Amino acid sequence: MKFFVDTADIDAIRELHELGMIDGVTTNPSLIMKSGRDIKEVTKEICDLVDGPVSAETVALDSEGMIAEGRELAKIADNITIKVPLTWDGLKACKVLTDEGRMVNVTLCFSANQALLAAKAGATFISPFIGRLDDLNLDGLDLISDIRQIYDNYGFETNILAASIRSANHMSDCAKIGADVATAPPAVIHAMANHVLTDKGLDAFLSDWKKTGQKIL
Ligand code: G3P
Repeated sequence: MKFFVDTADIDAIRELHELGMIDGVTTNPSLIMKSGRDIKEVTKEICDLVDGPVSAETVALDSEGMIAEGRELAKIADNITIKVPLTWDGLKACKVLTDEGRMVNVTLCFSANQALLAAKAGATFISPFIGRLDDLNLDGLDLISDIRQIYDNYGFETNILAASIRSANHMSDCAKIGADVATAPPAVIHAMANHVLTDKGLDAFLSDWKKTGQKIL
């Protein structure tokens, strides 16, 4: 499973990139707002840093507007993935932009039917939002599983990009189900390294080491 990081925070992206942990980046209008930066400036900086797909989201509601914004965002760099919402207009924009050979990420997906339509419209990525479904007492992981089954039944090439990831468990669950990509905030990727038994084991090793009075360096 590929890892994308869901942020527009350059320092966080740089740290994960240098560790070889990430294969791409996703942003959205809320994350751009949080960065306090100009969308084109910060997105260009991200694209210069990371070779993989970098999602930049359109904000128009009509397909013509999304297409125009998508073309403008695509000028930033070759690895831009244009993000459009899963509305009827978003699907129209997806079809036009993918026919032009551009990568498109169809976002705000909350049902298997929506994912099916995005695949028919030629989406490069479909972004089902796990956490926001879980927030409503629904099962976000079930959605990933349903989309995996449907795409595999018919050989759709659209990549399942699990989004709205809230915990380290979401990451391993998505990997078990077979999501192609999971995009997570930097803190969730960091949290994947944590285990209470690792901390406990390290404490015990260090306490015993102290008793030996030895030094390695
Ligand atoms: O980038 C879209 C998605 O990952 C947002 O997540 O936590 O705002 O539901 P969240």
